[in-house]
Amino acid sequence: MPYLYYCVKLGYSKCTMGETAAGLAREPLALTPDEKLDFFLDGLQVIRDQPDGQDPRISHFAVGMQTAVKSRRGEVRAAMQGVLDDRLEHQDEGDALRSAIYLGKLSLRAIGSQLWLARDYLYPQDFNRPADWPRPIREIFAGSLRSFNSDGIYVDLRRDLTSNIGARMKGPILAAAAYEDRFDPEDFTVYDLGCSQGLGLKQWTARGLYPFEATAGLRTSTRFPKGPFVDRKLSAKLDRIIATAIEPTQCNGIDIVRPDDFGNMLWAFICSHYPSDLEDDALTAHFLRLASFRSPRLAFTEADFMNEQQLESRILSSGQADMAIMSTVVYMMPESEQAVAIERAVRCVKKGGIVVVNEFAKPNPDMPYNLEFLIRWYDELLPYKTFVYDTLQPEAGLQLVAEWSNGRCTAVKPNLKHANVGKLLGAA
Ligand SMILES: C[S@@+](CC[C@H](N)C(=O)[O-])C[C@H]1O[C@@H](n2cnc3c(N)ncnc32)[C@H](O)[C@@H]1O
Repeated sequence: MPYLYYCVKLGYSKCTMGETAAGLAREPLALTPDEKLDFFLDGLQVIRDQPDGQDPRISHFAVGMQTAVKSRRGEVRAAMQGVLDDRLEHQDEGDALRSAIYLGKLSLRAIGSQLWLARDYLYPQDFNRPADWPRPIREIFAGSLRSFNSDGIYVDLRRDLTSNIGARMKGPILAAAAYEDRFDPEDFTVYDLGCSQGLGLKQWTARGLYPFEATAGLRTSTRFPKGPFVDRKLSAKLDRIIATAIEPTQCNGIDIVRPDDFGNMLWAFICSHYPSDLEDDALTAHFLRLASFRSPRLAFTEADFMNEQQLESRILSSGQADMAIMSTVVYMMPESEQAVAIERAVRCVKKGGIVVVNEFAKPNPDMPYNLEFLIRWYDELLPYKTFVYDTLQPEAGLQLVAEWSNGRCTAVKPNLKHANVGKLLGAA
């Protein structure tokens, strides 16, 4: 029952328990250290219950971490209570549940990265059962792991998750193709706000050099979830569009983190791979190859787009772009800042330009920009979506362009009801 308990305790307005729980209590976030820990355990429970098809080691980790937190020795509990104090201190009540799930995932990344660097264990190869986790987790927090970096684990547990998945750029490229007649192919400028290592832009810019591997097996259906899942004709069309769409003549990736910092790169590397991916040499080599790609068409700016002064002086100083992208950035912000973040992206584009938002979200006409962010991604069949804000149609808010099977964009359902997308795919 703890999930319901904390929904009630926090008066969480969007919990899956619905109106009853939401209406019961709206207390300030004043949890005892043990209650905070239960909250974290609940986040792990959500991860533990994830659907089939995901890397089972993620679920095993969640079980192992729950065991480690409950261990009588107490090192892990004390460490996580410290992290929770820190992370929950500035949270709005409504954001706390999001944080609990988020911290569960973050702890897998943080612990995974320590194990990956350590020489005592072979990670991820040796981590195939829940029972493989508690001991090394305890060793990390007790400081007894060989080559343990005592600052590293706490720095990582306080980070905002920073994955970088190049394949997500398929959504923005599809959007660029759908609005292509607006843009000058000789002068097409793009901002990627919250680009992390800039892998998406690198993937797009380096198209000739590095094939868009993930699209090769793109599975598509116009009738998902019923009917045949793979529509081969539409898949082939989409692959062709993605491979031939307009390319940026100049693009600028913006992020708070510096991509040339080795620690940031390593962190993004760990966050961008499931444990099983880390055993796939081709995948990891692709990441590293792209991370080291450079091009005169691709610039990078270290800036916080939420900071008004930095937005003006570091981003908009080079003018507005034709297209601004925000990919998997807004969902991790407090709810109160989400609409502001999108507004910042809107300010980055010229009249006639578009903003592309890739997010775990769904259309909701009652929300700012018609967008509702998803808290439990596993509840939706196609949780990750691409939306376009058209500066010539601001009243439409963010319009749905495509729905993806996951944040890695492996299967897509394009929104053929969207006028430009329907025209593009009908005519292509
Ligand atoms: C989950 S990563 C997504 C990276 C990439 N866009 C992708 O789709 O793979 C989110 C990124 O947004 C960045 N970010 C979050 N808030 C930001 C802000 N206010 N200004 C600049 N970057 C920000 C984070 O540092 C992080 O690198």
